[in-house]
Amino acid sequence: MGRTAPLSNEQELARLVRAHNRWRGSEVFNLLASENAVSPTARRYLASDLAGRYTLPVETEFHGERIDNSYTGTRYTDAIEALADRAAERLFRARHATTRPLSGHIAAMSALVPLLKPGSKFLAVPPEAGGYDGYAPGFLSSVLGYQVRPIPANGPAEPLDAELVREEIRRERPAAVLLGQSFVLFPYPLKEIAEEAHAHDALVLYDASHVLGLIAGREFQDPLVEGADVVFGSTHKSFPGPQGGLLYTNRSDLFREIAPALVWRVFDNAHWHRIASLGQTLLELERVGEEYARTTVANAQALGRELTAVGFPVQAEARGFTRSHQLHLDTARLLAEHRIRPGELARRWERNRLLTDLVGRIGTAEVSRLGLRPAEMARLASLLLRGGPKRGRVGAEVLAWRRRYPKLRFV
Ligand SMILES: Cc1ncc(COP(=O)(O)O)c(C=O)c1O
Repeated sequence: MGRTAPLSNEQELARLVRAHNRWRGSEVFNLLASENAVSPTARRYLASDLAGRYTLPVETEFHGERIDNSYTGTRYTDAIEALADRAAERLFRARHATTRPLSGHIAAMSALVPLLKPGSKFLAVPPEAGGYDGYAPGFLSSVLGYQVRPIPANGPAEPLDAELVREEIRRERPAAVLLGQSFVLFPYPLKEIAEEAHAHDALVLYDASHVLGLIAGREFQDPLVEGADVVFGSTHKSFPGPQGGLLYTNRSDLFREIAPALVWRVFDNAHWHRIASLGQTLLELERVGEEYARTTVANAQALGRELTAVGFPVQAEARGFTRSHQLHLDTARLLAEHRIRPGELARRWERNRLLTDLVGRIGTAEVSRLGLRPAEMARLASLLLRGGPKRGRVGAEVLAWRRRYPKLRFV
């Protein structure tokens, strides 16, 4: 028997990418709340010639000469970006939008850097209550020289108490109140909070990273209508686009500060293949975003009911489980009743081709894109129970079921 030659690194890389695409694209149900599947056209644009190109459409002076772009060859690139920005403005009913921020984190910086001077203070939901780790002391605030104070919150299963937040604004006098969480189930009492913030000259910044797709589909609160000054977030969680970010606002005075700061203060190259891909997703959502968002939330609520029906502990039952794409496991009851921790549970599910994170969230955005409907949530709940707390082997059953959903919907 002849020996097979070892794979070159390039062959090995090709094999890994093929294997990943097969595994994540057709052999598992993805229930990660932070992820989504990108439409075929939007994926094609990610692999287009744009992937290696620059453009810099800003008025600038270079060696005494006024130029409006430092590059040539950009006649299509600039039109692509303008088209994506206009689509974002229409979809989010905003006066100004930019698709340039490279991620949700960078989108937050894109608002903070130009609007808050170093030394300023902002309020944010702390990670213990489901807030984004990036806003906790020691991360973004330290890098940018801000002070951050916690918004009083008990956790995502309980609504923010508007009066407590108002008191905190009166006490702390922050330059901004930053709403938005990684663990998010319900909308905020935004009107009341914005009223108090504005009475004290504080900006209201809304990090929609997790719920952007639901806002686009009018299935969650509309932050601009309810008083947010600037909205920003990731474009790849409930929003089913390529990994990246966007930002929008109705405040022309603020956008005049933000837009020029993006280039060179926050980042330079904005990845125009991503912007073309994001533009495609924005246009798709203009057509089918409402149905997508409605299905995603209805699936999350139905899965909450079905999991509870089979004895699996989920938070916020009394409030209908969720108004977002997320469900949160009740980890204390999980341990008491099923003797399993969320990390071990997630690994067990992974072996059974059901992907979740290790911190107790289940998301329904991607399975909704695959075509699962509320009527299918009983089956999904049964697989999660048998393949998780019951310690069964359901991988083959999951694979057979997954194969019945080969195409993305809402594209
Ligand atoms: C609320 C929130 N904001 C910001 C981010 C950062 O987003 P990105 O990974 O797109 O930078 C996350 C990431 O999970 C998040 O949950």
